[in-house]
Amino acid sequence: MKDHYYFDNAATTLPKPEAVYQFMDQFFRSHGVNPGRSGHELAVEAETMIVQTRRLLGQFFGFAGDPGRVTFSQNATDSMNAALGGILNPGDHLVITRMEHNCVLRPANHFERDQDVEVTRVTADGQGYVDPDEIRKSIKPNTKAVVINHASNVTGSLQDAFAIGKLVNETDALFILDSCQTAGVVPIAMDEWGVDVLVYTGHKGLFGPMGIGGMIVGEGVEIRPPRVGGTGVNSISPFQPDEYPYRLETGTHCLPGIAGLNAAQKWFAELGKSHGAPDDATHQQACGFALAHIHETESAVANRLLEAFNALEGVKTYGPQAGQPRVSTLSINIRDLPADQVGTMLDADHAVCVRPGLHCAPDVHELLGTVSQKGTVRFAPGYFTDEEDIHQAIAAVEDLASA
Ligand SMILES: Cc1ncc(COP(=O)(O)O)c(C=O)c1O
Repeated sequence: MKDHYYFDNAATTLPKPEAVYQFMDQFFRSHGVNPGRSGHELAVEAETMIVQTRRLLGQFFGFAGDPGRVTFSQNATDSMNAALGGILNPGDHLVITRMEHNCVLRPANHFERDQDVEVTRVTADGQGYVDPDEIRKSIKPNTKAVVINHASNVTGSLQDAFAIGKLVNETDALFILDSCQTAGVVPIAMDEWGVDVLVYTGHKGLFGPMGIGGMIVGEGVEIRPPRVGGTGVNSISPFQPDEYPYRLETGTHCLPGIAGLNAAQKWFAELGKSHGAPDDATHQQACGFALAHIHETESAVANRLLEAFNALEGVKTYGPQAGQPRVSTLSINIRDLPADQVGTMLDADHAVCVRPGLHCAPDVHELLGTVSQKGTVRFAPGYFTDEEDIHQAIAAVEDLASA
């Protein structure tokens, strides 16, 4: 019997690999200095770790450009705001989808209301899939950027980022990918898919802590600085340096957070090596094996949950079914019970941790018709979900459905 059965990995992953906890603790103790500022040995070593993390993340995401373009911020929301704010001008047109998280919806709404940016919201089908052709049709001569959520944090629907990237690349628009629900879960090939800006958060599938995220800015893409200040380089200049990463990073870094991402990257590579990657595999190749294994493991859990929930009278599942392109996050409702009530009962009576509600994605619930039920009950298994968790989740939903 566990204290908690954790199914809230779409909000943040728990636990992290042991190596992440250990390295964060050790590095923060031994190198908890201000990197890139002072020239002493500890500061140089801390900076070296940061540079290495940029390189590892770039390779992980299939980005062959300058590792300085792999930038850090406090989370995906921070970087999405910075990307859009640094690209859009009054009179521009922005394309987003109705599957977006508020991390995209709200900035888009504010640009539309306050800064004369026109926004097109491309719809999705009943399974949560966006038709790439609808994206194509929405692009106009003044479209500055197309933003898509790679996988829905409500239904798990995985969009065809490759197809969308290819068609956006045929236009002058930039392709921005919100990878929050896919980074560390499915392989992402930034260069191959024509992604101009990849926004990531560190605390979900990338297995870092909260407080770290960022964006990778493709070669040739220019983003105005979101804020300006100290960088530790070229201090005599009255203005923010033009070069990346300084253009997008100012003030002291979240060193423990970057250390967490660093350790997690090495953990992915080791996992890949224990799942078929040759010893001499590059970081990207080794991580590719890890991601194939992670995706297979998580999908198997999602398929079991879907099968069990679909068989229960009074339980409705939303979004893609087994075999369709998806990540493991799934949503259900039980009869006409409000989602928050189900969430509370799952927690209080069965120690099952889920997330009920709109999941910061209100448009998705309009598409699903679940606004009046206060959203959905989201089960988000993760790589560390085990048999006991699965049994408990199924038994708990069975119990509530039969009550
Ligand atoms: C699809 C999606 N985009 C963006 C975010 C925002 O991530 P963060 O809160 O780490 O900025 C989330 C987090 O829930 C998400 O699921």
